Amino acid sequence: MESLQACEDMKLFSPVKIGKQVLKNRIVMAPMVTYHLDHKQSNKDKIMQYYQERLENPIGMLVSQSIFVPKLGVAMEKFEDTYHWFVEALNENCKKHGTKCVIQLSYDSPSYYEDGFVDVTNYSQEELLELKNKYIDCIKLLLTWDVDGIELHGAHGYFMNMMNAIETNKRKDQFGLGKMSYTFLKEIIESVRPFLGDKMLTYRLGLSNDEVENIKMSQFLQEMKIDSIHYSYGIPKPKHIELNAFAEYFDVVKMSIRTSEHIKVPTIFSNEIRTLNRAENLLKHTKAELIAFGRPFLADANFINHALTDLNYKPCISCKKCRWFYEPDNCVQKK
Ligand SMILES: Cc1cc2nc3c(=O)[nH]c(=O)nc-3n(C[C@H](O)[C@H](O)[C@H](O)COP(=O)(O)O)c2cc1C
Ligand code: SF4
Repeated sequence: MESLQACEDMKLFSPVKIGKQVLKNRIVMAPMVTYHLDHKQSNKDKIMQYYQERLENPIGMLVSQSIFVPKLGVAMEKFEDTYHWFVEALNENCKKHGTKCVIQLSYDSPSYYEDGFVDVTNYSQEELLELKNKYIDCIKLLLTWDVDGIELHGAHGYFMNMMNAIETNKRKDQFGLGKMSYTFLKEIIESVRPFLGDKMLTYRLGLSNDEVENIKMSQFLQEMKIDSIHYSYGIPKPKHIELNAFAEYFDVVKMSIRTSEHIKVPTIFSNEIRTLNRAENLLKHTKAELIAFGRPFLADANFINHALTDLNYKPCISCKKCRWFYEPDNCVQKK
């Protein structure tokens, strides 16, 4: 088994320190909402089986599907009722496998790329203060549930991405982006910092098409001592980038390569990385410290275990619209 032998020497399978924690390897299972979470635990068996099967692979860090801070006017109890059982069960499962459990936190409202999104410039100051405090309360609560880390979802056009993107946040008050101060996010991070202890705080950064904006946001996160930056697409999405040595990668990855050259924070690259060979190439020749795979884990629950004998193994065929978004049991690659 040539490939199995080769894996032992791969950077991908070497340990890495993120914040105060050591991950057994550099593979991240990307956050993906599959089955819906609710307080009745309607999909409990399906969800836990989904994670359990994938945790049988050697994964350094698992980032959970997004869970959501309560909407405006909704009490914090809703958060506890809906998610405590899930976080506890996932955390326990991760611990059994030596995989770090990171919970992704977002706000449940349509993305900039979906119909009916709310322009963040139109929120009142009181509404933003309520949301900011809810983020803080949710993070503090998650920390008491003993997870290994929390990832703030600031990508894919969702609320936090809109708050931190020049294209969408046109506010003139303290929550605007004057002098690129990112006050909303800054105050959240500063408020939870004393409670973090050895837990990781990561940020999923939605890269825009503007390299300078991406570098500034990354440098801000570095100043805020965030433990790692997980790059993906933001507002507007990165467009075609010339980067000859990496021509075969997606533009989001190329923008991640360019942006990460300006910071020292460990970065996670994601989006269409597809195979272990392509991941290893990025780890060896760019500043990526970790590689996240999403749909390969959906198309084959045993993705990494199978890829150990074929480093070019590519289970996902990148359908135009991934079935897991609307009928998770009908992935076209399902055997
Ligand atoms: C069904 C599905 C659900 C997703 N849900 C989330 C999510 O909750 N949070 C997030 O940051 N990204 C989410 N993503 C994006 C993935 O984390 C990942 O960035 C994307 O699939 C690209 O990586 P890949 O080419 O390895 O699949 C989702 C993707 C899919 C296919
Ligand atoms: S439905 Fe298509 S895009 Fe989604 S995981 Fe399956 S093969 Fe990949």
